[in-house]
Amino acid sequence: MDRAPISPPEGVKNTSIFDPATPQAELIVDLTWVVTGICIAIFLVVEGLLLFAILRYRRRGRTAGDPAQCYGSGPIELAWTVAPIIIVLVLAMVSARAIFDIDRPAPPAGSKIIEVVGHQWWWEFRYPDESIITANELVLPLSDPQDPQPIALELTSADVVHSFWVPRLAGKMDVFPLRTNMLWFEPTAPGLFHGQCAEYCGTQHANMLIRVRVLPKQEWQQWVRHQQQDGALDPDVAAGRRTFLSLSCINCHRVAGTIAEGTFGPDLTHLMSRETLAAGMVMNTRENLRTWIDDPSHIKPGAHMPAMKLDEAQLEQVLDYLMTLK
Ligand code: CUA
Repeated sequence: MDRAPISPPEGVKNTSIFDPATPQAELIVDLTWVVTGICIAIFLVVEGLLLFAILRYRRRGRTAGDPAQCYGSGPIELAWTVAPIIIVLVLAMVSARAIFDIDRPAPPAGSKIIEVVGHQWWWEFRYPDESIITANELVLPLSDPQDPQPIALELTSADVVHSFWVPRLAGKMDVFPLRTNMLWFEPTAPGLFHGQCAEYCGTQHANMLIRVRVLPKQEWQQWVRHQQQDGALDPDVAAGRRTFLSLSCINCHRVAGTIAEGTFGPDLTHLMSRETLAAGMVMNTRENLRTWIDDPSHIKPGAHMPAMKLDEAQLEQVLDYLMTLK
């Protein structure tokens, strides 16, 4: 079967920690600058003294013997003991302050809790208060600095160790099986933020991408209401729906309101409300979806979704149905 070339999502991905979009990411950058500044100062002093010694005491006119030797110096010993102690103390204190601010044992009061489950190689997002399950694209309400809405992610893994990292929003947090880690931040800027799994987790680790969309509160509530609805029941695609529900798709995927209740793969109830497929690898178009269903490894070698080997008619029917899951 002819396959369309794979088209990765467009646009520049800004994943710079130096362009923070939350107070918490800003704190990390500030700390980075303080530590880098101290390190540069140490570098300049050490290299300066070295250069000074090389130039000032280089062999000049002397033909034999060692230069004058000196043994022990109270003031120098004191200086190179006390100065590093002060530097280390300062580094420890500024780091501790940032860690206490960011890495709290419990989410701040009033946090919106979202459960994040790492899978090989995609992300599951569950909103327990809203009863929503989605994948790969995390949608968050904007936090007003006057009336903060912190987001607390409870992270766990369904298989191996992953790491959740959206550099402009927060620091990295490892994602373990049989353990829940917490990461919180206040999304104070609207927009799209890119991230990526930051712990090697197998073949497609590099393509375990994260997209976070921060919406103004009202838009976010609209999104929630939409996501809470069951999968569309468009009568025009009844045949496609029957085909889909008769295939093994339903063992791994869920479409709310149908017998498809699998949880091994991403929830498909509102599949077409997501911009990308395969954890952010390609745009979510009919062509890419067709390639994905026909042979996932063409887009993502090693993906755990099997090639469905549907005949042309079945494939089109299933596509017709999936395209209505908006
Ligand atoms: Cu998941 Cu790397």
